[in-house]
Amino acid sequence: MFDPKKFIEETVEKLKKEITGKALIACSGGVDSTVSAVLASKAIGENLITLHVDTGLMRKNESKEVLELLKKLKLSYRFVDAGERFLDALKGVKDPERKRKIIGEMFIRIFEEVAEKENIEYLIQGTIAPDWIESGDKLRDRIKSHHNVGGLPENIKLKIVEPLRELYKDEVRAVARELGLPISERQPFPGPGLAVRILGEVTKERVEIVREACSIVEEEIEKAAKEKLMKLPWQYFAVLIPVKSVGVHGDKRAYGYTIAVRAIDSVDAMSGSFSRIPHEVLERISTRITNTLGKYVTRVVYDITNKPPATIEWE
Ligand code: XMP
Repeated sequence: MFDPKKFIEETVEKLKKEITGKALIACSGGVDSTVSAVLASKAIGENLITLHVDTGLMRKNESKEVLELLKKLKLSYRFVDAGERFLDALKGVKDPERKRKIIGEMFIRIFEEVAEKENIEYLIQGTIAPDWIESGDKLRDRIKSHHNVGGLPENIKLKIVEPLRELYKDEVRAVARELGLPISERQPFPGPGLAVRILGEVTKERVEIVREACSIVEEEIEKAAKEKLMKLPWQYFAVLIPVKSVGVHGDKRAYGYTIAVRAIDSVDAMSGSFSRIPHEVLERISTRITNTLGKYVTRVVYDITNKPPATIEWE
């Protein structure tokens, strides 16, 4: 059985030996990066610099909340607003693997810029087991390049340290609980952010549409779980499919995108089944999305595919 207390003690000791200078960790506010940051801070104290990058691909108000969390955890942090840089780099790119590589590389270049300014030698990453398993190697097929593994460029100037490499999500959550972190039960959010929830090209308008749709899905599902209409799924979000269909908006013809709602029950992200959301909750989601985003979205569908054969994210 996994023992989070023992894992914390052993990892802090290991990090003390492994990191002999200043280290940088990028914190997205998710469970993996926050646990990694807190463990590293226990090991090397002031020598740890936490960085939050707003990629412009984060969820509604997310960057603001992350900075508040870092403050609360008393971690020394830096902030880079890189929304425009990410959007520029993704212009015209449709292929999901290319998107992941571009985002992975952009993250690393930003980390290197901060590291150079502050004389930092090490980069701590919150990589967990499913990230590198799905990113593929000599023995495994590449399902998708997780941005913190397969999406990284080959020429990285920093020495990489991955304290959670052997853990699965349920174990990382157990460590987060043991550390008393307020984000221990937070649903996962992929490193490449909303870019992998927009099929095809990422544009500012599409990011704004899917951000609003994700926020509606989260709010309605959390409300329904509170009302005991359903159990909170493991992960739940919206995906923008750039396929247009005809609708009516007022008494006018509309021609807009499709939003797919995805909600999945899983333990470790390696497999999962679609959540049995009550129809009335699906209806609330669909009505709110078409009311709020009616100018852009004419159709809402529900993804009823398990993993496997599908993956959780659409790209
Ligand atoms: P998939 O889509 O591969 O996702 O079934 C499994 C879990 O991993 C999350 N995910 C990522 N997490 N970097 C991450 O840190 C990534 O590049 C990435 N891609 C997917 C996904 O949200 C799900 O929880």
